[in-house]
Amino acid sequence: MKDGTTIPTDGFAMLARDFHAIFLGALGDPRVPSNIHAKEILLGMRFKMDLYANVRPVKLLDESLCPLKGVKPQDVDFVVVRENTEGPYVDAGGVFKQGTADEVATQEDFNTRKGVERVIRFAFELARKQGRKKVLMSDKSNVMTYAGGLWQRVFKLVAAEFADIQSQHMYVDALCMHMARDPKQFDVIVTNNMFGDIITDLAAALQGGLGMAASGNIHPGKASMFEPVHGSAPPFAGKNIANPIGAILTAAMMLEHLGLAKEAERINHAVLEAVRQKKTTADVGGSLGTREAADWIGLALSRA
Ligand SMILES: NC(=O)c1ccc[n+]([C@@H]2O[C@H](COP(=O)([O-])OP(=O)(O)OC[C@H]3O[C@@H](n4cnc5c(N)ncnc54)[C@H](O)[C@@H]3O)[C@@H](O)[C@H]2O)c1
Repeated sequence: MKDGTTIPTDGFAMLARDFHAIFLGALGDPRVPSNIHAKEILLGMRFKMDLYANVRPVKLLDESLCPLKGVKPQDVDFVVVRENTEGPYVDAGGVFKQGTADEVATQEDFNTRKGVERVIRFAFELARKQGRKKVLMSDKSNVMTYAGGLWQRVFKLVAAEFADIQSQHMYVDALCMHMARDPKQFDVIVTNNMFGDIITDLAAALQGGLGMAASGNIHPGKASMFEPVHGSAPPFAGKNIANPIGAILTAAMMLEHLGLAKEAERINHAVLEAVRQKKTTADVGGSLGTREAADWIGLALSRA
């Protein structure tokens, strides 16, 4: 708003109270100093509505979209569950002697037993629900020993409750290497807020780029929020070139979450057809504009 308010004080409580799900477009307008609106609305929703599991499916719809050679759609089909309410994103820290040669900056990495345990349990439950076989926890516990130690201990405890699901661990640097060399091995990955943020951009590249990636910010039983992984891509603004598929797949994800699995499947199918027939924007091989690409999927849906 003109007075600098990004969202009214009771805004998050109202969203949580009055809605089952929220569908959010990308935020980030370079005309707003310090990008405060994006931070306050997006992180505000995640933190204040306690949407602790950020679920990011990574699925390759067509071989042509993957930058890796010889990788087929069945080779890229996994889900990243990113912790969404803790880590360095809680905005704890400070600067001392700012602007001097002695400046010190700290950014604290918060990991609570409750936060770690609930997101790890969520990942195992998601694996079970989706008929997946493995949950891999990724951290940097060889160096970040305190936070990593907590993740390691809790992961072992929770994994023991899910005898039907295989549990694995990989340091996050090794995970990046394996994701680029052999993405087929992954099924469900659970990790902290920052590593999840980073590895899902890499993961998005495997499925055709940020324009293809969907996500949900979930707290089971509470109002959850669904958004494409990408941001507002300011250089694309007003040019009718942004890929709408990330947002459309996000809508499907939201419907599935709301119990409308058949409707979600129809949307996923229409998107798959658009990709196969190259009725898409240029980033994924087509020649349509944003509106035309979205309209094509809409028409395919109405015909189905
Ligand atoms: N969830 C969100 O709302 C969210 C997420 C990330 C960034 N942001 C904000 O968005 C703004 C821009 O951030 P950024 O440039 O780092 O990230 P971005 O995701 O907006 O863009 C990075 C790159 O990804 C590609 N891309 C993004 N969206 C695309 C689409 N729909 N179709 C095709 N390609 C697409 C483009 O190559 C683009 O240059 C910033 O203000 C940032 O804070 C918001």
